Amino acid sequence: MTESTQAGSRRIVIFDTTLRDGEQSPGASMNLAEKTEIAQALVALGVDVIEAGFPIASPGDFQAVRQIAQSIHGSVICGLARCRNEDIDRAWEALGPAEQPRIHVFLATSAIHREFKLKMDKEDILRHAVAGVRRAAGYCPNVEFSPEDAARTEADFLCRVVEATIDAGATTVNIPDTVGYATPTHMGQVIRNLRNRVPNIDKAVLSVHCHNDLGLAVANSLAAVEAGAGQVECTINGLGERAGNCSLEEIVMALRTRSDFYHAETRIATRRLVPTSRLVANVTGIHVQRNKAIVGQNAFAHEAGIHQDGMLKERTTYEIMRPEDVGFATTELVLGKHSGRAALASRVKEMGYALGPEQIQTVFEAFKLLADKKKEIYDADIAALIEQEMRAVPELWSLVSYEVASGTGKVPRATLRLRRGGEELSTELACGDGPVDAVFLAIEKLAGISVVCKSFNVHSVTVGKDAQGEVMVQVEHEGRLYRGRGISTDSLEASAKAFLDAMNRIAAANQAVRVKK
Ligand code: KIV
Ligand code: ZN
Repeated sequence: MTESTQAGSRRIVIFDTTLRDGEQSPGASMNLAEKTEIAQALVALGVDVIEAGFPIASPGDFQAVRQIAQSIHGSVICGLARCRNEDIDRAWEALGPAEQPRIHVFLATSAIHREFKLKMDKEDILRHAVAGVRRAAGYCPNVEFSPEDAARTEADFLCRVVEATIDAGATTVNIPDTVGYATPTHMGQVIRNLRNRVPNIDKAVLSVHCHNDLGLAVANSLAAVEAGAGQVECTINGLGERAGNCSLEEIVMALRTRSDFYHAETRIATRRLVPTSRLVANVTGIHVQRNKAIVGQNAFAHEAGIHQDGMLKERTTYEIMRPEDVGFATTELVLGKHSGRAALASRVKEMGYALGPEQIQTVFEAFKLLADKKKEIYDADIAALIEQEMRAVPELWSLVSYEVASGTGKVPRATLRLRRGGEELSTELACGDGPVDAVFLAIEKLAGISVVCKSFNVHSVTVGKDAQGEVMVQVEHEGRLYRGRGISTDSLEASAKAFLDAMNRIAAANQAVRVKK
């Protein structure tokens, strides 16, 4: 079952699982506010289905799915459940308030999973899968079933499971390559086989969910579309278990750029791809590599002289997509000290951000401060400001000022002032291994929280000596990891802000625990 569009091409449903499979990436866990912010961005991107989480997995997951179900409109909101009554009931409890809910039930079908993980035979699997789908369908008309590890499941048995679950009420059947084992020809065959042999296959949307262990997730998903799949499951920046999932931006742009071949289209607002990718990178702390297709910093950079010459003569000699179509800025240098709020607001809109008047005012104030320190302001500077100012973590502590005296062979001396509510606190201490360490120790002392710094990364947002530095830190506190991000033209100040951001996240998490108790 697939939808046709006016031009006669098929409409491919884009199912985003950044908040569920993507969050399973090591180090990518997100808090409630961050998940809601990403869900909003996914709606603006035009994603058809948002898999918001796995409600039975933890109280945090349940709360996130429920909040997204309550507050997000414009996309189907989906929650994952095993084929167990308690999972399905919990998923429905979380999804109940959604305008367009979907329950996604799954059960592994491959011989390896049946024998070693589930200790069930084929008939048990069929019974459980059908019962799970029926229970979900009793709550909700929109039910997806996934035979986990489908790509390694015997073809005949997979056909039986798919037919039985469609009969039981599944409106979408998703074919996962759970371990990233398939190749494009193989994946195409799996989909073709189901389309040719399952008698009721037209009663459901056939979907694909590919992992990237062999770097083939996008290629396998495209092969599935070519063979007739009508839904693709994917994540922003390709986040996900192990090597990740099919990357949303890559599959969408492949379908669009090669519509001559696939005759398929999506509802994605492609100019939102880069802002959404940046948002997810900043929230998770997992940045994309420079040469990542579509959204990487080098994706549209032409270095070789021959290429540059060709580009100047005719852009299409070396460019198959326009950078502006995926949300990269069209002009390099944008604004400066004398630019007003209206110019900033129009630039922000052109960059694909939808900010309200209050948010524009906040970004404008930060922009003016930056313009005093930096002559030329690029789109990337503005994007960094928006992402910093729009962060959803409440600020318990903020930086007032710092000073560090340090030098070769000297113990650094840091003086730090922080604001907490209406109060200002200060400290001075001589310790640490260099100025950054001294500032971090001073922050720990004032905040009364001790952490272990697990990673510290600095990179420049744009070019030039006065470029803003972006610092990302990851710290461990009481067995949990917290991220922090700070930007400034002064890299030590950016480090202090990033460390404080992590402290504020710890404080917010502690506060949430106290409220729950
Ligand atoms: O990879 C997988 O099999 C999954 C399922 C739950 C769809 O993520
Ligand atoms: Zn998966």
